[in-house]
Amino acid sequence: MAYQEIIQEAKHQKELLKADRFVKISAREDKSDLPAPVWEHLLKNSMLQSWKGIILNKGVTEIGIYPMLLYEIKPQTIIEIGAFNGGSGVWFADCLEMMGIKGNIYGVDIDLSLLDERAKADSRVNFLQGDCNKLNEVFPPEMLAGFPHPWLVIEDAHVNLVAVADYFDNNGLQSGDYLIIEDTNKYMWEAWQGNWEDGEEMKKGSQKMDDLRSWLKNHEQEYLIDSYYQDMYGYNGSKNWNSILKRF
Ligand SMILES: C[S@@+](CC[C@H](N)C(=O)[O-])C[C@H]1O[C@@H](n2cnc3c(N)ncnc32)[C@H](O)[C@@H]1O
Repeated sequence: MAYQEIIQEAKHQKELLKADRFVKISAREDKSDLPAPVWEHLLKNSMLQSWKGIILNKGVTEIGIYPMLLYEIKPQTIIEIGAFNGGSGVWFADCLEMMGIKGNIYGVDIDLSLLDERAKADSRVNFLQGDCNKLNEVFPPEMLAGFPHPWLVIEDAHVNLVAVADYFDNNGLQSGDYLIIEDTNKYMWEAWQGNWEDGEEMKKGSQKMDDLRSWLKNHEQEYLIDSYYQDMYGYNGSKNWNSILKRF
């Protein structure tokens, strides 16, 4: 196919995919076109993956997906629960800056001593110490009320996902905002079995998809899976199964 035809075909495919891209959880399955053994390889060196030398703990396919989503929705507020080394916060800040999007970024972690010095020095990201079990202390409702929309809220701490989703749902998520629950991929947690020191986190992690499914069943009209991004690299071709959610 000539390159001009490829461009036309890409536009056509994009329109087709976008036509029925938002899907209820009841129409989705907890499986992926990327089989379990693939994740062993994709994750083996995940702690070596970095942005500007800072650990970036996003999946390889998310590194493709997030910038496209950011460019499309142009978030004015990004909140990430689980800042870790700070790589994702700095990456989001760079993406927004490159795209000319003036958004505010908040990265929350229970232990900010994990932050790389270069992330700490990046004034574009507001790193906040806090426990996602007590989100009202980190983001009181009156504070959230002042945050401009659209929002992109990312849960990446693997703790208390239902309460985290409820908190942001009850305190400001509105039509057009996105909520992403990271690491719901069950194959990934299987691949990690035995390599993960913290047995409790392992247990909670492998339950994430079930917890999310139960939560979504109670919010089926408001939160739909954006299959355009969710399935870009094959059905659920991501560390995040059925969890790129648009609020309607
Ligand atoms: C998977 S890492 C986050 C990775 C990061 N978002 C990235 O993409 O590079 C999970 C983080 O959640 C934090 N965490 C664990 N329990 C937490 C809690 N109760 N509240 C807030 N953060 C917590 C951990 O300290 C850890 O840094």
